[in-house]
Amino acid sequence: MRRRDFVHGLACIGGAPLPALAAMPRVLRAAEASVAVAGQSDLPVWAYEAQVPGPVLRYRRGDVLDLELRNRLPDPTTIHWHGIRLPNAMDGVPGLTQQPVAPGESFRYRFALPDAGTYWYHPHWGTPEQLERGLAGALIVEDEEPPAVDRDLVWLLDDWRLDAQGRIAENFYNFHDVAHAGRMGQQLTVNGQVEPVQALRAGERVRLRLVNAANARIFALTLEGLNAWLIARDGMPAATALPWEGELLLGPGMRADFIVDAGAPGRYPLKDADRRGERVLATLEVSGAPDARAARPAPGPAAHEPLPEPDLDAAHAHTLVLGGGAMNREGWPQESLAEREARRLRLQAGAREAAPAWTINGQAHLRHEREHAAHAAEFRVPRGRSVRLVFENRTAWWHPMHLHGHHFRVLSRNGTPLPERPWRDTVLLAPRDRVEVAFVADNPGWWLIHCHVLEHHAGGLGTLFEVQA
Ligand code: C2O
Ligand code: CU
Ligand code: CU
Repeated sequence: MRRRDFVHGLACIGGAPLPALAAMPRVLRAAEASVAVAGQSDLPVWAYEAQVPGPVLRYRRGDVLDLELRNRLPDPTTIHWHGIRLPNAMDGVPGLTQQPVAPGESFRYRFALPDAGTYWYHPHWGTPEQLERGLAGALIVEDEEPPAVDRDLVWLLDDWRLDAQGRIAENFYNFHDVAHAGRMGQQLTVNGQVEPVQALRAGERVRLRLVNAANARIFALTLEGLNAWLIARDGMPAATALPWEGELLLGPGMRADFIVDAGAPGRYPLKDADRRGERVLATLEVSGAPDARAARPAPGPAAHEPLPEPDLDAAHAHTLVLGGGAMNREGWPQESLAEREARRLRLQAGAREAAPAWTINGQAHLRHEREHAAHAAEFRVPRGRSVRLVFENRTAWWHPMHLHGHHFRVLSRNGTPLPERPWRDTVLLAPRDRVEVAFVADNPGWWLIHCHVLEHHAGGLGTLFEVQA
């Protein structure tokens, strides 16, 4: 198979060639740094442009992102542009779409941005470690006619596992995290800060873009006391604005955009809830004289449906059974003695990697973020074919399943059709859930499907599909 003939040079989408190479790409330097983050004054991190999170990259729809990644880390790296429908060669998956960028080297990412929305960027090499050390940032693509707001806030949510010295705990890939719920941290942050306060004027209308950049934490978010509507999920507009009521579950990798109206003066906390109770992530502090505009009408429906509609009758159907994980012997991966020995030698040589713990259709895809040579595609379809994909979670754990290069409609959950059939690039599965999605496979290349609990992916919970040109 010659699928690792990486395609460099001019990339195009929708048949339109990119404009001639600009002389100077934007530079994004990945390097070690010490920054004030996660409640520590000088935390040693890995950072883009010495900032945690990395700079917010903002473009207009249709713009060309032209950016040179300079790797000054002690480790190889790549950038994956999560949620962007981009040419395969720009997808940042080492061993599949490009060579890893070695320390000291650079790589130029260059592609058009076809959809407006909230996206993000992060490494796809040594991902559980590199994200946790601080490498992640938001990528915002503005619409030509965005909903009218007075302010646009981007909140990247994360959690940090700090050791007794207040440093990032280095027990990446440990078997307990991999086989259970992934790496959870005790310190919650918004844009790297603990419980930040955002001042608003009464009467302001705000667009609030939430990105879950945590390795494994599923945020259960509430914001009480202010009128708020969900207007987009994973970058894609919701058909109609939905009032935010109760808990919003946001799994790793997922995004949610809200319109929030600052009403009466006061403090309004954004809270996360887990088994140990509620915690404040950040606070909106509204001040000033209450304003006549305080009760504004709900935002209107989405201006357009950006993606082609899958043809459900003619679709290629495929089921992905998720197996393994602690508390469950079903689908636990088999490792041959030779594989185990090879892994032992790699670990001895200093490699950081997970032991197998998870399967898709009985297979554990290990070292997924480094080598894909050994993997066959789960399915392949000709370009333009519709695909119906069933995720069947036979494990005792939650999994946010992410598809590269495409968005899908979520058709049903446990046999119950979802009336809105929302567009997403990541869908959250509760234990034992069965979720059906559909999409038009219109982006040629080799693409990953994986759990965005990064430790689960490292432990085998990922696979590939091919869209033939
Ligand atoms: Cu956000 Cu394959 O990743
Ligand atoms: Cu693979
Ligand atoms: Cu998972």
